[in-house]
Order: sequence, then C-alpha cells, then structure tokens
Amino acid sequence: MAIQRPKGTQDHLPEGSPKLTLDTRAAAFDYVRETARRVLERAGAQRIDTPLFEEAELVKRGVGGSTDIVRKEMFTVYYFGDHGGFILRPEGTAGIVRAYLQNGWKQLPAPFKIWLCGPMFRAENVQKGRLRQFHQVDYEVFGSTDPLVDAEAIALMVDVVRELGLKKVKVKLGSIGDPEDREAYNDYLRELFTPHVERLSDDSKDRLTRNPMRILDSKSAGDQELIAELGVRPMLDFLGAEAGAHFEQVQQYLRDWNVEFDLDPSIVRGLDYYRRTAWELHHEGVGAKSALGGGGRYDGLAEQLGGAAVPGIGWAFGIERLLLAMEADGVEMPAPGGPQLYLVALDEENVPLVARLAREARAYARTEFAYRAMKVGNAFKDAERRGAVWVGLMGSEEAANGTVSLKNMVTGEQQTVGVGELATFLQKSDD
Ligand code: HAM
Repeated sequence: MAIQRPKGTQDHLPEGSPKLTLDTRAAAFDYVRETARRVLERAGAQRIDTPLFEEAELVKRGVGGSTDIVRKEMFTVYYFGDHGGFILRPEGTAGIVRAYLQNGWKQLPAPFKIWLCGPMFRAENVQKGRLRQFHQVDYEVFGSTDPLVDAEAIALMVDVVRELGLKKVKVKLGSIGDPEDREAYNDYLRELFTPHVERLSDDSKDRLTRNPMRILDSKSAGDQELIAELGVRPMLDFLGAEAGAHFEQVQQYLRDWNVEFDLDPSIVRGLDYYRRTAWELHHEGVGAKSALGGGGRYDGLAEQLGGAAVPGIGWAFGIERLLLAMEADGVEMPAPGGPQLYLVALDEENVPLVARLAREARAYARTEFAYRAMKVGNAFKDAERRGAVWVGLMGSEEAANGTVSLKNMVTGEQQTVGVGELATFLQKSDD
C-alpha cells in the first residue's frame, strides 16, 4: 500500500474528490476563514500569523503544567545541535501573547484586537472532531479588563456562527474568578476528594495534587459518578466580590444585546491561564463533550511568560468542528463556480491560438482551455463537467474570421463574437 497520511490529520481536498465531506473540503475552510475575517475585521481586529513552532518553554509556561496538552499531547521538534526542542503550537494564545510582548504592541491604542487562523497540533486520541492537526480561528483582545470587552468577545463569537448559518448553538458561560478565588475553590475540592482518592481515575489522582478543578472536567465515567455523588459546589459560589461584580456586568451587556447564554456554574476550561470570564460554545451535532469553541480572560499570562503585565481575553473555534456542525445543520455553502470561459480548439492547429487567447482572457475572467482539440459534442460535455458558464469554440472558420463561437452552458444562448470584443462581451454578460 502506498504511504498514508499520519493518523489524526486530514487532506483538504479539491471539489470533485470522491467521498468529499464538508470537513475535508478545501473550499469550506476558505469559506469559514473568510466569514470569520468579515465579522472580526468589521469589529476592528487585524490579522496576525505566528510561527507553527515555538520555544518549548513558551508552551509549557503559557498553557500550563497541569494541562493534558503539556502532560501528554505535545509534538516536540528536535534538530541538530543541543537546543532543548521546539513544540508545534497546540493553540494560538501563548504565541500571540509572546508576539504582543516581543513586537511592542503595548504602544498601540487599547483595546487592541487581533485574529489568527491556522493549524494547531495536539497528540490526542483521535476520534470524530478530535484530530492531531486541526485548525483554529482565534480572536484576542489586549489592554483592557472592562467587562464590555468580555461581552463583545462572546458576542463576536456568536456573530461568526450566525453568519455561518449555524442554528443549534449554545453559549455556556461561567467565571473561574481571580487566582485567590480559584485557590480557595481548589482547597475545597482537595478536602472533598481526598477521602475518596482511591475511586478517582489515575489522571484525576494526579489532578488532585496539581489542579483539582480539572477533575470536574474528567472524561472518566467513574469520576463523573463520584462528582455527582459528592454534590460538588460550583466555582461560581467561590467568586470574590470583584470577580463577581465583573461577571454580573458581562451578563448584563449580553442581555442588553440579546445574546443568549446559559449560565454554566461548573465551567472548567482545559488550559491553565484563565481567570474570570470563561465560556464555551456547544452544538448538538458535534456532541456534548466537544465544544465548537471556547475562550476566556487571561490577565496574568503575559507576566507568566516573563513580560510586563497586560490584560487579555480571547477565544478560538475549531474549524473542523464548525464544519461538522454545519453539515449536521444542513447549512448550504455557496459552491465555488467553474470557469467563466472554457475555450476549446476544434482542430489541433488552433490549440496554440486558444491557449494564447485564454492567457489574455485571464486578465478579466476565470478562463480555462482544452489542451487537445475536441469535437463539438465532446467540448460541450467537457465544459459542463467543469461547470463552465461559457464555452468558446475555435475552428478553422473562426480562426480565419478572428472570432470565437460562444455558447452559454446555463441558458443555451449562442453568439459569435470577435476576438477583440471577448472582454467586453464577458464583462457585460457577468452583470
Ligand atoms: P481550546 O478549548 O483548547 O482553547 O480549543 C478551542 C477549540 O479548538 C475547541 O473548542 C475545539 O473546537 C478546537 N479543538 C481543540 N482541540 C482539538 C482537536 N484535537 N481536534 C479538533 N479540534 C480541536 C484554546 O485553544 C484557547 N487558545 C482559546 C482561547 C483563545 N482562549 C483565549 N484566547
């Protein structure tokens, strides 16, 4: 068997590929990216790219030592020499905060908004909607702790899914408080779970020492049973006065704007850098355990990376999961069209002329041409298969007269047009 692509990766395929699904269709990725671009750039965000690999230290400190990502899902890249290794980025935020610090964006007017789109890498157990190379649209805002910024970030996320045509989406909103609130909650959880440590899964035993809150997010059925039995109090009960007031205001703005959300008092995100507002977007078609996207505030992250303090908040969607949801909702995506003009020579000696005309026509229209001469019937069949709007035939008569015989594949209309008038004709017919 020929060599296969690595497990947990996907090819993004051209139209017409056999077994094409929305989440493997290259045009669908373009569509999501362009939709997100429209929504986010209208709101003042600018696009950024960061490297696909970063210093190991950045990911470890940024994402956090207690996360599954750092503990078991990192793709490490080594090369000759004694460098300790790089890590293929598992998410966008740590790299973007690094870029903020490194490129002096502090001088720019705050709040400063940016967005990124690209591949991320996590060595996860592969299943539907859970890949090792996946793609995110990521939005981040720097320089403000105003709850208005939190509400706007959540609302923009909802705007993106609306613009994509998704319906059954739910925002689950929570707050994980300030660090001292979280510490108090972790103390409470440690006390609660320690007498039952033997019943916890191995992962959760480990979480009990590192970050007990993560136990609540466990995928083990046994852990979830114990959580239900113990009647664990939610994080929201432990919010301090300031974090509580901030969270109230975020909700107030969302209600003002009619952005629907469900309060989820138990929200736990899978990354260590969050504080205060945290949320996820869920969709029935993708399954309860897998979020379409998630985000939160991370005011301490820049300092954690050794930089000056700057507050930040953001979110990311998984594009593959958005596409699975679009498929489940039956969302129609505009199909990328075929060529506006498909030129075909009716005899071999006119192929060079057709090729030259096609190259000229590309200045004003998407144009393809046949590399071999064809009979008229085959030319029409071929043009139809390629989804062409106009087919242009060039036989010896047309060549002698300096014309092209055109047929519209949609309406059946036929016209003979001088080679010099082709541009004007196509532009007019496109109106
Ligand atoms: P996250 O929750 O780890 O957050 O990932 C965001 C989204 O990426 C998920 O909701 C999911 O749709 C997608 N995703 C994650 N892992 C996979 C995977 N293995 N396969 C397919 N899709 C996946 C973050 O990454 C944060 N950086 C979000 C953020 C930005 N917070 C603040 N700013």
